[in-house]
Amino acid sequence: MVGLAFIPVNFFKLAFLACFIFSCLSLGTPSQACDPNDLLALKEFAGNLTNGSIITTWSNDSICCEWEGVKCDHGGNGSSTSRVIILNISGKGLRGSISRSLGSLDELKLLDLSYNHLDGELPTELSNLKKLEVLDFSHNMLTGPVSGSLVGLNSIRSINISSNSFNGDLFDLGEFPNLSVLNLSSNSFAGGLNSQICISSNKIQILDLSMNHLSGGLDGLGNCSTSLQQLRVDGNSLEGQIPDSLYSVSSLERLSISANNFFRPAEPETQ
Ligand SMILES: *[C@@H]1O[C@H](CO)[C@@H](O)[C@H](O)[C@H]1NC(C)=O
Ligand SMILES: *[C@@H]1O[C@H](CO)[C@@H](O)[C@H](O)[C@H]1NC(C)=O
Ligand SMILES: *[C@@H]1O[C@H](CO)[C@@H](O)[C@H](O)[C@H]1NC(C)=O
Ligand SMILES: *[C@@H]1O[C@H](CO)[C@@H](O)[C@H](O)[C@H]1NC(C)=O
Ligand SMILES: *[C@@H]1O[C@H](CO)[C@@H](O)[C@H](O)[C@H]1NC(C)=O
Ligand SMILES: *[C@@H]1O[C@H](CO)[C@@H](O)[C@H](O)[C@H]1NC(C)=O
Ligand SMILES: *[C@@H]1O[C@H](CO)[C@@H](O)[C@H](O)[C@H]1NC(C)=O
Ligand SMILES: *[C@@H]1O[C@H](CO)[C@@H](O)[C@H](O)[C@H]1NC(C)=O
Ligand SMILES: *[C@@H]1O[C@H](CO)[C@@H](O)[C@H](O)[C@H]1NC(C)=O
Repeated sequence: MVGLAFIPVNFFKLAFLACFIFSCLSLGTPSQACDPNDLLALKEFAGNLTNGSIITTWSNDSICCEWEGVKCDHGGNGSSTSRVIILNISGKGLRGSISRSLGSLDELKLLDLSYNHLDGELPTELSNLKKLEVLDFSHNMLTGPVSGSLVGLNSIRSINISSNSFNGDLFDLGEFPNLSVLNLSSNSFAGGLNSQICISSNKIQILDLSMNHLSGGLDGLGNCSTSLQQLRVDGNSLEGQIPDSLYSVSSLERLSISANNFFRPAEPETQ
C-alpha cells in the first residue's frame, strides 16, 4: 500500500485548486437547504421505514432539497430555505408505514409512493396537504379506510390508490372541486356507490372503481354526465339496471361494467 507520505506535494495543490474551482462553481448553483420543519418531517418519514436503502442517500441535511425524490420550490421571497413541493419515491423497495409527519409538508404538490411495499393505514394528517395536486400510492400493501385522510385535499387533481388493500365504504370521500382522476381499483372497498361522487367532484374524467366489493346499483353515477370519459366498475357485486342516464353521458369514451350482477334488459336496437 502506498502511504500518504509518497503523494507528491503537487497533488495537494491540484486537489486544492480543484476544490476551490468546485466550490466556486457550486456558488453559482447554491445547494439548497430545506425548511427545518420539512427536514424534520422527511427524517421522521425515513425513520418509519424499515428498508432504508434509498434513505441512505438522504444523509446530508444541508442539501435536503437535492435528496433523491425530493424537490423544493426556489426559495423565493428572499427566504434562505425552500419548501418541499415534490416527494416522488416510486419503486424504491420501501417497506414500513407512512409517517404522519408527511402531513406537515404543507406546500407539497406531488406525492408519489407507488410501487413499494408500504403497509399500515394512511395517517389522517395527510388531510393537511391543502396544496397537493397529485397523490399516487398505487401498488403497495396499504390497508384501512381512506376517507379521513383524503378529505381535506382541496387542490387534488389526481388520486391513484389502486392495487392496495384499502377497505371501508366510499360515502365520506369528501369534496374535491378539481379532481379529474380517481382510481380506486383493486382494493377491498365495499358498500354502495356514493351518489355525490360526481356532484362534489364535478370535473371527474376518469373514475376507476373496478375490482372491489361494491354492491347496490349504479344510480349514483347519473350525475356524472358533464365530464366523465372513462368509467370502470367491472369486477364488483353491483346489480340492478344500467341507468339510462349513463347512456346519455356524451363525454363517455370507455365504459367497463363486466363481472357484476347487472340485469340486462333487451338490447337496444340502436347504439
Ligand atoms: C414514526 O416515527 C415517529 C418518530 O420517531 C414515532 O413516534 C412513530 O411511532 C413512528 N411510527 C411508526 C408507525 O413506526
Ligand atoms: C453536505 O453538503 C454540503 C454542501 O454541498 C457540503 O459542504 C458538506 O461538506 C456536506 N457534508 C457532508 C457531511 O457530506
Ligand atoms: C412570502 O412572504 C409573505 C410574508 O412572510 C407570506 O405571506 C407569503 O405567503 C410568502 N409567499 C410565498 C410564496 O412563500
Ligand atoms: C415519479 O418518478 C417516476 C420515475 O422517476 C416517474 O416515472 C413518475 O412519472 C413520477 N411520478 C409522477 C406522478 O410524476
Ligand atoms: C430494499 O430496497 C432496495 C431498493 O432500494 C431493493 O432492491 C431491495 O429489494 C429492498 N429490500 C427489501 C427486503 O424489500
Ligand atoms: C382549481 O383549478 C383552477 C384552474 O386550474 C385553479 O384556478 C383553482 O385555484 C383550483 N382550485 C383549488 C381549490 O385548487
Ligand atoms: C394511477 O392511475 C392514473 C389514472 O388512472 C394513471 O395515470 C397513473 O399512471 C397510475 N399510476 C401508476 C403508478 O400506475
Ligand atoms: C388505474 O390504475 C391501474 C394501476 O394500478 C391501471 O392499471 C389502470 O389502467 C388505471 N385505470 C384507469 C382507468 O386509468
Ligand atoms: C344526483 O344526485 C342526487 C343526490 O344529490 C340524487 O338524488 C339523484 O338521484 C342523482 N341523479 C341521478 C340521475 O342519479
